[in-house]
Amino acid sequence: MLLTETTQSRAIMRVLDGEAVWPPPIWVMRQAGRYLPEYRAKRAEAGGFLDMCYNPDFAVEVTLQPIRRFGFDAAIMFSDILVVPHALGQNLWFAEGEGPRLDPVTTRADLAKLRERDPAEHLAPVFETLRRLRRELPAETTLLGFCGAPWTVASYMIAGKSTPDQAPARIAAYRDPEFMAALIDMLVETSIDYLTAQVDAGADAIQLFESFGAALSAPLLEPLSLTPMRRIVEGLKARRPQARVIVFLRGGGPNLAKLVEAGFSDAVALDWSLDLARVLPTLPPTLPTQGNLDPLALVAGGKALDEGVDAVLAAARGRPHIFNLGHGIVPQTPVEHVAQMIARVRAAQV
Ligand code: CP3
Repeated sequence: MLLTETTQSRAIMRVLDGEAVWPPPIWVMRQAGRYLPEYRAKRAEAGGFLDMCYNPDFAVEVTLQPIRRFGFDAAIMFSDILVVPHALGQNLWFAEGEGPRLDPVTTRADLAKLRERDPAEHLAPVFETLRRLRRELPAETTLLGFCGAPWTVASYMIAGKSTPDQAPARIAAYRDPEFMAALIDMLVETSIDYLTAQVDAGADAIQLFESFGAALSAPLLEPLSLTPMRRIVEGLKARRPQARVIVFLRGGGPNLAKLVEAGFSDAVALDWSLDLARVLPTLPPTLPTQGNLDPLALVAGGKALDEGVDAVLAAARGRPHIFNLGHGIVPQTPVEHVAQMIARVRAAQV
């Protein structure tokens, strides 16, 4: 396959259209975050995490921080997947050091009480952030919007917090399928509107985060994950055909094959548990992929990091691939290791 050089503009968009750009373009999930001293400094000035998400001055600044420092090929807007339930009227707060907390939604009566807020109005600062980012970013930097996939967001809405295995939402799905379907429907519709507005505000591509895809048994995967994500992608593309969508299905395994077979996403993001050398040859050669260095190899640095980078490069060579981690960068990551990773990716031989 023809390899083309990354120095040309908009490398990520070209990969998403199936071009094997080499060296592969690179960005990192959670690239705006606590591993950066400049983020921690801004965070200390801000009221709280959610205030930062809804304050375009902060959100623009921290989105740009990793672009200035490392020149990543994509900027992902600073926000969170949980602003959607918040926009639907669910109480949300981030307890210091504990992660997100929500007042659980568990019955159809709870659902009926949502939508007290106008999501578009509530989320207006996110769109303002994107408009400003598009003006400030270099033209060749792809601007990524995102939202959580309905199942992942629903599992937070039902449990009211992070859970190791999403048990409350899985039990709800078996016990009250109608409640679950109504919640998923609400999230599908809200997400299509939300992503359409993100594209109108300047997002070039969207990543859907199905962080809890691994928890779904075969009978639940189709109705709760694949079909809702397909409806979102098709709904968005019916309105904005130029939008490109990357689906991150964490804990891929056998569910990954079903996602690829379903065929609705422009690209699939692979988590670090997958061996790319084995998995990529099983995927269509023109399907864009993204991933999948173990974030903890990036923490360790040294030989483990170099070998991890080289393994991704060797497996992805000749394919449309975006270099990334297999999940979000963790706060204890030394910034020099990020620079080391990027230098090694960009030195990949054509
Ligand atoms: O990638 C980026 O830089 C863009 C911003 C972004 C954040 N969260 C910022 C954030 C994105 C894309 C997310 C997605 C997100 N949020 C997901 C899906 C991705 C994944 O990790 O699987 C999920 C499940 C959430 C929910 C969430 N937000 C949790 C569980 C937590 C607490 C865990 C933690 O790392 O503290 C958050 C908080 C959060 N979201 C932070 C950031 C930078 C840390 C907040 C802080 O600065 O204190």
